[in-house]
Amino acid sequence: MIEIVRVETPEQRAQMTAIRVTVFVDEQGVDAEVEMDELDTDPSTAHVLALAADGTALGTARLLAPEHADGPAHIGRVAVLSTARGLGIGALLMTDLEELAVERHGVVVDGVRSVSVELSAQEQALGFYARLGYVARPERYLSEGIWHHDAVKVVTAPQ
Ligand SMILES: CC(C)(COP(=O)(O)OP(=O)(O)OC[C@H]1O[C@@H](n2cnc3c(N)ncnc32)[C@H](O)[C@@H]1OP(=O)(O)O)[C@@H](O)C(=O)NCCC(=O)NCCS
Repeated sequence: MIEIVRVETPEQRAQMTAIRVTVFVDEQGVDAEVEMDELDTDPSTAHVLALAADGTALGTARLLAPEHADGPAHIGRVAVLSTARGLGIGALLMTDLEELAVERHGVVVDGVRSVSVELSAQEQALGFYARLGYVARPERYLSEGIWHHDAVKVVTAPQ
């Protein structure tokens, strides 16, 4: 049983950092100083952790608030420890942050609350995001030596 929790305590923040260092810095070669950025501590940023039944942290992701009114929210830094992949944890993290995005940043049109969520998807993870309904733009760009595509999804609150 996996539980998704909001990062609130210094201990949870340390667990989040440890996962991102393991996955992005050690495994993927991202510069540690780029990986942890100022948005991590911005009060408008939300971080989540995926916890196993024994409390072990297995994955993390973050939600950034829109940069301007009517702009998209951003989900990023989605990381699951290599030993825990393929179990649905990444999808659980995404679903939780999508719910939070529509709750915090959604706008109501014709009685329907929705928000646009954008992310910067590594090419090797495009299939993961596509299964969740994200549509990738064809243009690719290099970031930290890794090919990325922007991808977008309109998330609607349950009726
Ligand atoms: C990408 C990542 C977050 C996926 O997490 P995960 O827990 O393994 O994913 P899930 O088990 O929830 O997979 C959900 C679905 O996506 C599929 N999927 C997962 N990773 C995929 C990938 N890289 N390419 C294509 N499909 C993928 C799964 O097969 C599953 O499909 P299903 O619903 O048909 O069974 C994880 O592999 C990871 O942390 N990778 C390293 C860091 C990274 O690349 N992060 C993304 C940066 S943009």
